[in-house]
Amino acid sequence: MKPSVSILVLLLWGYVQGELLTNGGFETLDPWSCYNFNCVLVNDKHSGQHAMKVSHRTVNYQGPSQIITVEQGKTYQASGYIKLLIDQADHMSQRVAMELELRYQDGTKYYQEVAAHPPIKVADGWVQLRGQFAIPTKQIERARVYYQGPIPSVSFLVDDASVTELKLNHDDHTWRNITDQVIRTHRMSNIRINVTTAATISNEDVQIQVIQKKKSFPFGSAVSAVAYNDPSQVKYRDFIGKHFNWAVPENALKWKHIEPRQGHKDYQQALDTVHGLKKQGLKVRGHNLVWSKEPRIQSFVQAMSGDALRQEIKNHIEETMNKTRGLLQHWDVNNEMLHGTWYQDRLHDPDYNLELFRIAHHADPRVKLFLNDYQVVADGALTEPYLAQARHFKSANVGLYGIGVQCHFHDELEPNPYLIKQRLDLLAQAGLPIWVTELDVGAEDENKRADFYEKALKSFYGHPAVEGILFWGFWDQKDWRGEKAALVRGPNLELTAAGRRVLDLFENQWMTDETHVLSHSGHRINVLGFHGDYEVHVRYQGHERKDLVQTFTLSPGQHTHTVSISVN
Ligand SMILES: *[C@@H]1O[C@H](CO)[C@@H](O)[C@H](O)[C@H]1NC(C)=O
Ligand SMILES: *[C@@H]1O[C@H](CO)[C@@H](O)[C@H](O)[C@H]1NC(C)=O
Ligand SMILES: *[C@@H]1O[C@H](CO)[C@@H](O)[C@H](O)[C@H]1NC(C)=O
Repeated sequence: MKPSVSILVLLLWGYVQGELLTNGGFETLDPWSCYNFNCVLVNDKHSGQHAMKVSHRTVNYQGPSQIITVEQGKTYQASGYIKLLIDQADHMSQRVAMELELRYQDGTKYYQEVAAHPPIKVADGWVQLRGQFAIPTKQIERARVYYQGPIPSVSFLVDDASVTELKLNHDDHTWRNITDQVIRTHRMSNIRINVTTAATISNEDVQIQVIQKKKSFPFGSAVSAVAYNDPSQVKYRDFIGKHFNWAVPENALKWKHIEPRQGHKDYQQALDTVHGLKKQGLKVRGHNLVWSKEPRIQSFVQAMSGDALRQEIKNHIEETMNKTRGLLQHWDVNNEMLHGTWYQDRLHDPDYNLELFRIAHHADPRVKLFLNDYQVVADGALTEPYLAQARHFKSANVGLYGIGVQCHFHDELEPNPYLIKQRLDLLAQAGLPIWVTELDVGAEDENKRADFYEKALKSFYGHPAVEGILFWGFWDQKDWRGEKAALVRGPNLELTAAGRRVLDLFENQWMTDETHVLSHSGHRINVLGFHGDYEVHVRYQGHERKDLVQTFTLSPGQHTHTVSISVN
């Protein structure tokens, strides 16, 4: 990213003040703590006289740390430089980050990466970690910032660390106004109804109802294939069919689930789910062809290398895309590439991720291909590297369609509309559609959860680059985060306060239903309507004129749709 862009973002959304770290330049060892490992000053520095060399670690999370003072509800930005001193044969690149540890007064702890970088290697030299973060609204006893290192055998240098408060606009008014305007201009179009009446018809006897039957905006959830295919889970399937127009199998399409052991393939559970969802009228995303993170890769794949591995992967992608041909709208190609590099490392091919997209695009050019990652919008540790990755894939012309932002918000962290907008604006600079692919918040209190979801959903729906929103589960019985993220709970899928709030937005506030009486509105009725499928009903003297019912679709991008009605 060009520096001018971040300066512009800051000018629009806030300004930076006072440094919270002491000796972020590592000119002395104080007050950095290096408990149980080695820290020394060295001359190989990023700036100033010295940097700090970190070695003799025994666990990944060891790195220099210091206590800082932060306040609940406030926002901050962090940055720092890091340079690796050793590469490992089996792990060509290493994950590094700056981490925040909060100890709350209730004794619990909270960890959040506040600035990170996709995996790096020695040849990358000094790299900058940069991100912004918000502090949850809980009583804090102590906050500590530290470098989260690579594997213990890799020593590294650190320099020029900084944490400053980010003075964001905190008023509740401005963002609502901005998102409302975006919703009006991007999610709605004009409906013009031109009514002509016979001379015998009196205007007060004619009522016109413009009612939206379906929304076109993609709104959905991850679906558990096990529950979905269980004949006793009628309520689960019904809820999905009634409230969502998109879905994504949570696990069933993952390679590990299709082929846990080499040659033992089972596509049935995945295909049953996809066929069932399509029969219910939903569109379906594919998640995911491969997954970059080592723990997510089956042992038989991890045992392979070279051309045999390449062939195995190519065959898996082609076969899976063959089996699902015509059924899926999207595919996440290689999940979480900002976090894992297993395939590149094993094949010694830094460009292999591009090759994966080429294989998938060639196998089925009609399916839209996505990046899918986290720490990019719900938190901002990797937003800038994600923009760089999206630009790289776009310019490589390998069939990338869109940017998937997962959006798993930390427990008890209230989504901040200003931070969300800042991050979405940044990613939108890639000029690609953005999909919220895995939304959830974590709040034990269901009313708080309702507020959190409303803030997140308005921020997304009210951003012009966002093309669709999917939750990552919605039922406490089948949600990876359990009750604290759930929209519905219990065997009867009873709505929680959060579920009521979410459905009120998508099924009431963001749907159109207006009735006009000709004596009030005249013969030219204008309605600003949400995009979707409509019916127009005419009532004369209180009775529906079934012969005059009209249907139409109001599409995104359409300026005005005109309906002509002749009442005689
Ligand atoms: C919303 O923004 C518009 C345009 O900037 C402004 O005219 C209006 O006063 C704002 N309304 C509120 C309630 O802030
Ligand atoms: C309204 O409908 C009448 C009769 O169908 C037609 O003559 C007239 O041009 C229409 N006006 C507009 C503005 O569409
Ligand atoms: C996928 O389908 C294509 C076209 O029908 C076929 O040529 C290819 O062999 C199939 N690949 C796999 C791995 O099933």
